[in-house]
Amino acid sequence: MNILVLGSGGREHTFAYKIVQSKLCDTLFVAPGNAGTENIATNVPIAVTDFSAIKELVLKENIEMVVVGPEDPLVMGISDFFLSDDQLKNVIVVGPSKEGAKLEGSKEYAKEFLLRHDIPTAAYQSFTEASVNEGKQFLETLQAPYVLKADGLAAGKGVLILQDIDEAKEELENMLTNKKFGVASEKVVIEEFLDGIELSIFVLTDGKNYLTLPTAKDYKRIGEGDTGLNTGGMGAISPVPFADDVFMTKIEKQIIKPTVDGLAKENIDYKGFIFIGLIKVGDDPKVIEYNVRMGDPETEAVLPRVKTDLVELFKHVGAQTLDTIDIELDERSAATIMTVSGGYPEGYEKGKEITGINSISESIVFHAGTKSENNKVVTNGGRVIAVTSFDEDFRQALKKSYESIEKLNFDKMYYRKDLGFDL
Ligand code: AMP
Ligand code: GLY
Repeated sequence: MNILVLGSGGREHTFAYKIVQSKLCDTLFVAPGNAGTENIATNVPIAVTDFSAIKELVLKENIEMVVVGPEDPLVMGISDFFLSDDQLKNVIVVGPSKEGAKLEGSKEYAKEFLLRHDIPTAAYQSFTEASVNEGKQFLETLQAPYVLKADGLAAGKGVLILQDIDEAKEELENMLTNKKFGVASEKVVIEEFLDGIELSIFVLTDGKNYLTLPTAKDYKRIGEGDTGLNTGGMGAISPVPFADDVFMTKIEKQIIKPTVDGLAKENIDYKGFIFIGLIKVGDDPKVIEYNVRMGDPETEAVLPRVKTDLVELFKHVGAQTLDTIDIELDERSAATIMTVSGGYPEGYEKGKEITGINSISESIVFHAGTKSENNKVVTNGGRVIAVTSFDEDFRQALKKSYESIEKLNFDKMYYRKDLGFDL
């Protein structure tokens, strides 16, 4: 079958890398893609939210499956768009309905869902401009640090963690009254701070059945020792060494199963990935957030470990028969390191030539913000190239990735040299 992947990052290059290995894939299209996907698939210059252009492409190229990488088209309802169109309704869309995507699109909606289904999470209350004073009073009842979350999508920047109560009140005011994050912060969730170590869980569901993919841990801060600004992610390892069988059983029983059952009970059409951000508090998992897609760069560490044909898995998602297939994994560890443009996550330059990609042989290279220009590969974003390696444990896998990354070069290239420091 012909397949379309939507997106242009390292996550989408990884999807493409797996999909072209499948016997079930004839032609793969990626929209808009990057210089990495261009080597293995056909890039089409269409934005991920341009539904009418996507429809035209799907009909013209006889595409039977669409794999949605980022959250924006999901939150905008791409899955409903396909289902409600007579010409598109039989196309398998890997990604939830607009209602399901609210789990990521609204923090308040996610918290209410968690409470309705008795899934462990931080205590919270939400506030609007009209209740900003109540919000400040609520802050008085909490202990530092204070966690403020913009309700809507804010490109990963909508969560503030503050030590000082006065600063927390001021930021609450900024978010609600001064619309610090635009419409995304018209509502703010104030949450109990959870103290522990984070990990990410990935679930593939057809709305009734599910398969749990390998765990991962990503490194979000730009600076070593987890300091500085938040980024999309500077690297990831899979599996997470502290997620042992006992802990995973708790996660399955207390979190994954009630989540999938809750979606089914509420008749929410959900065919796609659920990415659950967790914190291990003492010995117990608590949900910090849901995302309705795979993580980036977690995908670059998780998917290469999946040996089962990805397209076959997606076909079972479409047919709601995930209970009839098992997932086979590479038992080795994977470690991904992301190289970024100097200045990221703030201002950075683009168009710098990237050299050394073809001299990497011990690792897999996944392109993120890259494009080809005059037969060269140049930088085209903040996160530029991810390098993934396998080995017996995550430390050895990291070592291999660090050796490979030394071969890469572009002006002002930066990467964190301390991944795994906390494990
Ligand atoms: P989110 O966008 O919800 O993933 O939040 C971004 C980051 O903020 C998370 O990865 C955590 O590191 C941190 N965070 C969010 N909520 C909490 C919480 N309740 N307690 C502690 N840290 C949190
Ligand atoms: N790496 C975190 C995310 O994809 O949201």
